[in-house]
Formats: sequence, C-alpha cells, structure tokens
Amino acid sequence: MFEARSIDSGSKPEFYRALAAQLEALLAGESDPIANAANTSALLFQAMPDLNWAGFYFMRGGELVLGPFQGRPACVRIPVGKGVCGTAVARGCSILVEDVQAFPGHIACDFASRSELVVPLHGRDGIIGVIDLDSPSPGRFDADDRTGIEEVAAIWLSACGEVERSTLARAS
Ligand code: SME
Repeated sequence: MFEARSIDSGSKPEFYRALAAQLEALLAGESDPIANAANTSALLFQAMPDLNWAGFYFMRGGELVLGPFQGRPACVRIPVGKGVCGTAVARGCSILVEDVQAFPGHIACDFASRSELVVPLHGRDGIIGVIDLDSPSPGRFDADDRTGIEEVAAIWLSACGEVERSTLARAS
C-alpha cells in the first residue's frame, strides 16, 4: 500500500521534485483516469500546505464537469470561457490568480478561497480538463507552483496514456 511521506523540503522546486516522485509511485501501473485523478487530488491536498480545495474538472459535452476532488462540495458545471477554470480552457494555458476577488467572473465555490491556480490537461485531441487548486491565502501560488502543478498534470497524463475526450465521456 502506498504511504505518503511528509515533504518538508526547503524550496518550492525541491518540494515539487519530491511531490513528483511520490505521484509517479502512486500512479505507477494504473491507467484509469478517474482513479488516478482521485489519488492525485488526495496527494495534492495532503502534501500541499494552505489549500482549501484540490481537484479535477473534465471536458464533457463541451463544458467542464466536476471530477474527483478534496475540499468542500463544488459547482458541477463550468462553461468554457467562464470562471478561472473555463478561462484556462479557452486560453489553453495555466492561470494563476493572486486575488480571486479581482478576477472578473471568478466562480466562488468556497467563499474561503482567496487565490487560485488552474492548469489545463492537454490530451491528444485537445484540452480534456483542468487541475484546480484553491487557497484561503491571497497570493498563495507563484510561478514555481505553476511549474510544479504543470509537472503533476504531465505525470497524470502520462500514467493515463493517451486520454481522449471520448475516453472520459465513456466513463460518464
Ligand atoms: N473558482 C473556480 C470554480 C471551481 S472551484 O474553485 C472548485 C473558477 O472560477 O473557475
């Protein structure tokens, strides 16, 4: 059985190297996207300090639909172009929001959230979803976090193989 080790590395790049190693071990030999998203969310929420939400949204029927997560119950459907998550899909890149109250159209699932990081998941036939992290602290995320979570997304994608939109749609 996998056991999460505490990550008490000094710098953020060291933290994310240790986190990546743990995630690779956790997902090794498993390709189911939902199971891997569930375990990835749990590891992120357990290992990263100062989070109040960590999880996945997947593209289904042309919009984002809530996937596995840790934290308070969240809004289920987010249209492309709406909120931080839908904007990340529309732009095709990660979005780091230091102050969610200053982001036009931010969708408040948990009123405790003050900052947010959204990283798209690039499948073979386009963006298949996002990883979304929320923090109760303003300015919680920086460029090191964006790079670290983009690596987390790459590890999840690699473990799942070529995840296409149709694969996730079949899982519904
Ligand atoms: N804040 C997100 C919505 C998802 S929750 O944070 C879990 C957004 O604006 O897209």
